[in-house]
Amino acid sequence: MELNLNFDKSAPETLQEQAFEQIRNHILSGRLRPGMILPPTRQLAEQLNISRNTISLVYERLAAEGYVESRGRAGTFVSRALPDESLNTDPNGPSSIEALKLDLPSPILCFSVHPPGLNRPDVANPLIDFWVGRSDPETFPLDTWRRLLLRKLSVAGSNLTEYGDPAGLSELRLAIASHLGRTRGMLVSADQVIVTSGSQDGLNLICRLLNTQHHPFFIESPCYQGAAFLFRGLGATLYPIPVDQNGLVVDKLPEDRGGVVFVTPSHQYPTGATLSLERRLQILKWANDTNSVIIEDDYDSYFCYDGRPITALAGLDNGQRVFYLGTFSKSLGAGLRIGFTVVPKELAETARIIKSQMNHGQSWLDQAVLAEFIESGLYDRHLRRARKLYKSRRDCLKSSLTKHFGSADITGDEGGLHVAWRLPHGSPDAAVVQQRARLRGVGVYTFGSGAAYDFDGSSSRDFLVLGYSSVKEKDIEVAVGRLSDLLEDMKREFTPYVVFSRQQSA
Ligand SMILES: Cc1ncc(COP(=O)(O)O)c(C=O)c1O
Repeated sequence: MELNLNFDKSAPETLQEQAFEQIRNHILSGRLRPGMILPPTRQLAEQLNISRNTISLVYERLAAEGYVESRGRAGTFVSRALPDESLNTDPNGPSSIEALKLDLPSPILCFSVHPPGLNRPDVANPLIDFWVGRSDPETFPLDTWRRLLLRKLSVAGSNLTEYGDPAGLSELRLAIASHLGRTRGMLVSADQVIVTSGSQDGLNLICRLLNTQHHPFFIESPCYQGAAFLFRGLGATLYPIPVDQNGLVVDKLPEDRGGVVFVTPSHQYPTGATLSLERRLQILKWANDTNSVIIEDDYDSYFCYDGRPITALAGLDNGQRVFYLGTFSKSLGAGLRIGFTVVPKELAETARIIKSQMNHGQSWLDQAVLAEFIESGLYDRHLRRARKLYKSRRDCLKSSLTKHFGSADITGDEGGLHVAWRLPHGSPDAAVVQQRARLRGVGVYTFGSGAAYDFDGSSSRDFLVLGYSSVKEKDIEVAVGRLSDLLEDMKREFTPYVVFSRQQSA
């Protein structure tokens, strides 16, 4: 048989590439049908007046990609099953949900916990943005990360092509367990640590372990949106428990009924309060007495600026009742998507199975780099540097607020990456301030729009959250000055309205 191929000598593609593409097209269009024999290499080379070696290389590539099969002396044949059929979906097959006749429930929640303008080209980001909980991109250890990445790639072996342990890379689990021992007072073994895609993934895993529908869920009010929405979406019944300046008011938990309680003890989200040691012991006792479990979200505890951090609940517990959530989103960067959960020993194997069912575990490369980053002491060094930077930004925010507003009423300034600021007496609603501040190039957030959920909406009216970690000091000063001007202007403009609305709601 003769094959019709035409070469364009002026094209950038080599003769070999042109021959490959044209034969492949003949096969895909059906001109060369499955099972047909191709001309021998010598014959085709003579017909086209090109080297036989070029045709041999073309046939080899066609065979390597699955378009043809070499049957030794018998010749080269078009494959019966073409590779494109296993790569692409059938354009005429059942492609839509409708064709599969699925009864889909209506979506439960479509909220986002990200700032309104983030990564959306259609919304102008404010010039100075106090969005919460962002690690400053300039702190990310890029050069070190690049060096470790290349080193790990050079010894990757089959790690990139094989599945790993769904519970995570053993070196990383070990490194995390020993770091938790040193920094959070937690005596846990590596097999209790499950590496996850951020703590949200860990929370999903815990929910599957606990079966959300069978327990009442007690949750801080106000609380972290990511938790409240997930629990609700999974059908849990939520009972809000108030928080004060010492964190969750443990006395408000029911004495006679157990369940699951979700807390952020190091830096309550969003108020920033730290759960006192006394309350930590109290909640553990409550959990024991009522046969309850505690989910401890310890999202930003490595940033403690004044004194030492209090031991995690999971460190005070005897390893039975606390499910611990950790994340590298705040210490290194949320884009890494690496976190972990620590589960009670007897549930470790079940947690591994669940993680496997969820997604077969995390990327080997990221885990390998992070494991070495922690083990080599570079993580501790990074934390020290970041802590120093964020502490001076916190100090700058506090002194700017004090300069403009006298004694500013803020909570959560002992640690973490944000504070909650109660607006000065007589200010309009926080939502209005948020809106107006944006027009003046300052991004501030009410609890509700700042990744928190306020069950009765009461604290949303008076508070703004200010995430300062990614804002340079000179910008902090400028922004607080603008907020001060804004509130002065609004006071004049809004006074009659404010008096009226506060009297109404009193
Ligand atoms: C209270 C709280 N927990 C956890 C996280 C981190 O979530 P992830 O580790 O999934 O990025 C955040 C992020 O904003 C948070 O505010």
